[in-house]
Amino acid sequence: MSKSFKTFLKHTAKDFHNQSVNPPVVRASTIIFKSMQHIRKTQAKAQKNPIGGHFDYGRQGTSTTHILQKILTKLEESYHVFTTPTGFGAVFLAIFSVVRPGDEIIVADPVYSPTRILTQDYLKEFNIKTIFYDPHNLKTIEKNITKKTKMIFVENPGSNSFEFQDLGKIISIAKKNKILTAIDNTWATPYYFKPIKFGFDMSIVSATKYYSGHSDVMGGSLAVNRKVFNKVKATEKITGLRLGPDDAYLITRGLRTLDIRLDRHRENAKKVSDFLSKNKKIKLLYPYKKDSYNFRMWKKYYSGASGLMGLKIKSKNINSVRKFVNSLKLFGYGYSWGGFESLALHQELRETGKRSYLNLAKDEHLVRLHIGLEDPSDLIADIKRALKHLK
Ligand SMILES: Cc1ncc(COP(=O)(O)O)c(C=O)c1O
Repeated sequence: MSKSFKTFLKHTAKDFHNQSVNPPVVRASTIIFKSMQHIRKTQAKAQKNPIGGHFDYGRQGTSTTHILQKILTKLEESYHVFTTPTGFGAVFLAIFSVVRPGDEIIVADPVYSPTRILTQDYLKEFNIKTIFYDPHNLKTIEKNITKKTKMIFVENPGSNSFEFQDLGKIISIAKKNKILTAIDNTWATPYYFKPIKFGFDMSIVSATKYYSGHSDVMGGSLAVNRKVFNKVKATEKITGLRLGPDDAYLITRGLRTLDIRLDRHRENAKKVSDFLSKNKKIKLLYPYKKDSYNFRMWKKYYSGASGLMGLKIKSKNINSVRKFVNSLKLFGYGYSWGGFESLALHQELRETGKRSYLNLAKDEHLVRLHIGLEDPSDLIADIKRALKHLK
């Protein structure tokens, strides 16, 4: 019987051996075998089938991490999913698996700021050149391709500035020029967009966000196709970038309700964005305005939107923007997102100077909201009250 993914998430990973509805947390450094022959047999099986869950040492994982990888592989519709201790670990693993000294890499200008620092500054020390492209002008990819270009690294939408890109065009440029592609898909997760099926070679999700959903665990996933699997496997082995079993268990638990939570984040965010769109000082950075380029690019590739949005606020009075943000009572001030609770941040992207194509006038300010699972009418009432401070 073919099951929908929503049913699969509820029924998978039952433990009939222990008669528990959830799998056990298997913690291990040493794995004990019955004999030396048994060790060798397991190693031979791992060689033959490197994704089959045959482990001889805890750094390779245990059944707990293997279960999570199998669930995510199904969700991603990929060849395999590697799990890492943080989302940023998955970014690192993707890049360092394929890029070597002398290579060049083309990266979306609005990537997550640590990804920017890694590619702009750190890769330089390994003689790897990074060029940033304008997310709304893909000619800036095409004109920068050389014989040395190894990879195009996309994040969609752009971090904090929420530009939606023409992903189909990026894939066709990459394929034409035989360049590998990676995407940070944390905003949508494969629940709303499946990058590997679409044609990307690698896809990153920070499991810290929607996969775990409860703001109490960190982790990352890197989905891959067959073409890059061996390279990533070798790099995973040599860097030791692997998720621990306790965190894997919590992420597996979070995944049971991924569909329900994401659907509710989307519904709540839609209600909040309907309210905010009536305010003349605010331009929504969320797939909202039907005649906009961002909306068209979102609609073309995504089946839904998550709870993270930006507000571009026009005001000559920055203190009033600060006052608006600081007056919110139901939104916590803090980093990360994807949990059940609403969060707010006043972003200072202009001030960090880490953007080449930031579309932000002098009197425009960016506020990021993560719309959580609270009653949306309470969130709207909170925002309405705080907006009185905006001048
Ligand atoms: C888009 C995106 N990618 C990657 C990361 C890194 O994930 P983690 O915090 O799990 O290392 C973040 C964290 O905020 C993020 O927003």
